[in-house]
Amino acid sequence: MSAAMYELKFRRHRRLRRTEAVRRLVREHSYTVDDLIYPMFVCEGLTGREEIPSMPGMYHFGLDEFRREIVELSALGVLGIILFGIPAEKDEWSTSAYAERGVVQEAIRAAKAENPHLLVMTDVCLCQYNPFGHCGLVRDGVIVNDESLALIARTAVSHAEAGADVVAPSDMMDGRVAAIRRALDEQGFADVAILSYAVKYASAFYGPFREAAHSAPAFGDRRTYQMDPANAREALREAASDLEEGADMLMVKPALSYMDVTRTLKDRYPVPVATYNVSGEYSMVKAAALRGWIDERAVVTEMLVSFKRAGADFILTYHAKDAARWARSASI
Ligand code: PBG
Repeated sequence: MSAAMYELKFRRHRRLRRTEAVRRLVREHSYTVDDLIYPMFVCEGLTGREEIPSMPGMYHFGLDEFRREIVELSALGVLGIILFGIPAEKDEWSTSAYAERGVVQEAIRAAKAENPHLLVMTDVCLCQYNPFGHCGLVRDGVIVNDESLALIARTAVSHAEAGADVVAPSDMMDGRVAAIRRALDEQGFADVAILSYAVKYASAFYGPFREAAHSAPAFGDRRTYQMDPANAREALREAASDLEEGADMLMVKPALSYMDVTRTLKDRYPVPVATYNVSGEYSMVKAAALRGWIDERAVVTEMLVSFKRAGADFILTYHAKDAARWARSASI
């Protein structure tokens, strides 16, 4: 018996889900390669490449293989990368973070030489470059804020000198955006943009990255500078001060557990908002996919579309290369 026989009144939402064509017609969100930035790890002194055990499909690149990968990424249409360096030497002043011939500085030059159109972003931080594995300068067991700023600004300037388009401070010291903006402007890099990791939580989802970047803290943890995952309103204070200090774009990190924060920043501030789909989020997907427990492509697509729905203008993600490949093979 049909519903009409009972004179039931209700709405037929399923009409707009009936065929793939109508579903495409009414689809609200999607992503393209223009929304994705691919993180890469360059390792000083390495020849070739080595897979990162905790992040299947991701590699430590020596400069030679890095160049080859840039060519491949460019052919796939990947829009941009963000660089992380693993230096040969660490010292208490994080000297290799701002060395003219440092590993990130060399990688920037190599990437631009292979493809001048590739958008090159850099992570600006000290944690890979000092033996303490902390994001700022350590003095007597304390991560000191104000003295860190000069080193962080110097690192950003060295990236700009090498040709970076965007610098992305991830250290979470107070005042770093102001320090970086002033140093860039003073040294003739007024055109280099700042993507601030404005809202960066002290997250357990960074676990695989710290193995990949050899940057786990040697003592303590990062909770005196990264944010408490329980706090949402605090994100507004961080975002507001970074914008006042001169950030061009804001980032929320990690992505999955913090989509509410992404939405709030998007509604509140008229600047591009990015989200970082971090290592632990990637590794969980990979681990389940490798066991055949989930459909990797479907899950990743769902996640990326969800970040767009939450308001992200772009996404930093280890899935970017695969997503660029999928975009070539079909409409997404
Ligand atoms: C450096 C930095 C980290 C990440 C990006 N930049 C690690 C951390 O803060 O502990 C995490 C990236 C990821 O997990 O994918 N400070």
